[in-house]
Amino acid sequence: MQVVETVSDVRRSRRAGSGSWGLVPTMGFLHAGHLALVTRARQENDHVGVSIFVNPTQFGPQEDLAAYPRDLDRDLAQLEAAGADLVWVPPVEEVYPPHFQTYISVEEVTRPLEGAARPGHFRGVATVVAKLFNVFQPDRAYFGQKDAQQVVVIQRMAADLNFPLEIVVCPTVREPDGLALSSRNVYLSPEQRAAAPVLYRALSAARDAWYAGERNGNRLRGIMADVLAAEPLARVDYVSAADPLTLAELGTAAAPEPPHGVLLSMAVRIGRARLIDNILIADSEG
Ligand code: PAJ
Repeated sequence: MQVVETVSDVRRSRRAGSGSWGLVPTMGFLHAGHLALVTRARQENDHVGVSIFVNPTQFGPQEDLAAYPRDLDRDLAQLEAAGADLVWVPPVEEVYPPHFQTYISVEEVTRPLEGAARPGHFRGVATVVAKLFNVFQPDRAYFGQKDAQQVVVIQRMAADLNFPLEIVVCPTVREPDGLALSSRNVYLSPEQRAAAPVLYRALSAARDAWYAGERNGNRLRGIMADVLAAEPLARVDYVSAADPLTLAELGTAAAPEPPHGVLLSMAVRIGRARLIDNILIADSEG
């Protein structure tokens, strides 16, 4: 496994490896959710590239950029074991050199949900992912369903800008009690950690209601809000039952009728951690 810092080193290794390339973009502090993406990329490609870069442009001024957890030695050992061939760990100036001033702005699908709560976040995500696509030029790029809106934004960008690659979406990896794995879970105290599975319980309750025939957006959101309200440590940022393609809330004029399935999602603060989670129910399962 090669570990490189510069764009020119990535390009050189990329050209040296004939056959297909899979890319897994990450911000490091890797857990089994990230490694599932690497394993999938390993199965489907001749070569696997991984990036580890805590991307400053996707963090707001009040967010946890400086505190974001890092452990490069442990990350590299895990990537070696998972079969990565090339790891790019760029310094910030390699990605954003002086005079940098070009950004990708995906429009409608970045407005609600995480986009509303975190202004500028998806502009940073889309910009860095476009750069990663240009530098690695992968045949396939791997993303987790854990960040549902990020997947929608990147699929939109890749289609709109004709990136010649396939976006592969992998299922959310969870702890046995339902908590979605996240680098940010390290912010939770033991008591907060015990409260955190409430997100998945709330999502599961709304999913069960959907399968039982509930199609009213207000009632689906109400079911999630009620489960969350019973947990005193949980402070709700938003709960959403939205159309999976447009992200318009079900029950509003903007949502298509009938909906293309439903994306149930939420952001909840527990202590100083802001946790997000979702369940996607595709049209065919409706
Ligand atoms: P990061 O949060 O490090 O996540 C990297 C990838 O791992 C993302 O595609 C994310 O959806 C996926 N992932 C995280 N937790 C997961 C879980 N429990 N199960 C399955 N997949 C999971 O997302 C980012 O970094 C950044 O925004 C990035 C795309 C790298 C751009 O900077």
